Amino acid sequence: MRRHTLAVLPGDGVGPEVTRAALTVLDAAQERFGFSTARTEVPLGADHYLQTGELLTDEVTASLGTADAILFGAIGSPRVTPGILERGIILELRRRMQQAINLRPVRLYEGVPTPIAGLTPARCDLVIVRENTEGAYVAQGSTVHRGTAARVAVQESVNTWYAVERAVDFAYRLASVRRKRLTLCHKTNVLVEAGALWTDVMSAVGERYPDVETDYVHVDAMCMHLPVSPERFDVVVTDNLFGDIVTDLGAVLQGGLGVAASGNLNLDGSHPSMFEPIHGSAPDIAGRGWANPAGACLSLGMMLGHLGEGEAAAAVESATAAVLADLPALAGEGMGASTQELGERIAATLTEGSAPTITGSLMSQLARVMGGDDVAW
Ligand code: IPM
Ligand code: MG
Repeated sequence: MRRHTLAVLPGDGVGPEVTRAALTVLDAAQERFGFSTARTEVPLGADHYLQTGELLTDEVTASLGTADAILFGAIGSPRVTPGILERGIILELRRRMQQAINLRPVRLYEGVPTPIAGLTPARCDLVIVRENTEGAYVAQGSTVHRGTAARVAVQESVNTWYAVERAVDFAYRLASVRRKRLTLCHKTNVLVEAGALWTDVMSAVGERYPDVETDYVHVDAMCMHLPVSPERFDVVVTDNLFGDIVTDLGAVLQGGLGVAASGNLNLDGSHPSMFEPIHGSAPDIAGRGWANPAGACLSLGMMLGHLGEGEAAAAVESATAAVLADLPALAGEGMGASTQELGERIAATLTEGSAPTITGSLMSQLARVMGGDDVAW
């Protein structure tokens, strides 16, 4: 029987609730598709930090490094100064685990309400590939004349050919198993140095993918096109900060942050990839069963695709989409069922195999993109 080792990081706030629901769905997927997982829970987050003063220690890094994948809930708490946990755990994990890209699908499923008037599922199925290790997120920078009126803050963005090339290459590869259309999103008219590097990488890598059509959109224009005409996009590749911003907008299109999933992918197999819902820890609703587990379940689907369990991945996606379509509201008391009940409903739908099959599933595309023998990275 195929066996995968998982590190599970439920984290803070609603993280443990949505993770528990996702693990219920994983149990059902294992049962139906004949594989097993060995799961180790890792207590990272606010409680652990407040008790021990520890963020991500070398010891925890080493133990996480032995897992095949990491399933992540949410991190962040009003009890800790903003930024400490996010930077010390999430960003540090992405960096240490060399999770080169953050893959964020923007897909509106049938029957799911979207705030964008007139938007239909047929018009909204794209994937944003966000460079995940550098740009403005390198955590470099300096302040001079601190404490005076002459204070100067410098916060640079770092763009290496190496990291941009691996993100762009993945984006081309993904586009070639989808609708063969790749858009670079940047701000080349102002950030001319970084912009030129990204543009040159697009052209150089593009020579290896002659059947993928490319175009370019400024990030500000992207914020206009995305809600109005998402059908013009298939795969979008962008830098870390632009990717952070436009994927929140993307989540709105697909029904809100509760539905949006992501995968932090290590592309060279040196470390595990990490899968997390886009939403945060939502401390205001924690413990009430009000959080929508769909983002966590769809992230689980991406994890299964990444582990080569393509069929299970597509089934998780179909079952989650079917249950979502039945919800009266996407989060809060009005969902009609608790977080865990929804997890159980998704698990039962998966077991019965009663959900309509999702066509063009990103989850199974991921299995093809990650699993091919010819994968050089
Ligand atoms: C995200 C989040 C993180 C980011 C924060 C919590 C550091 O916004 O995953 O999009 O900026 O990457
Ligand atoms: Mg964000």
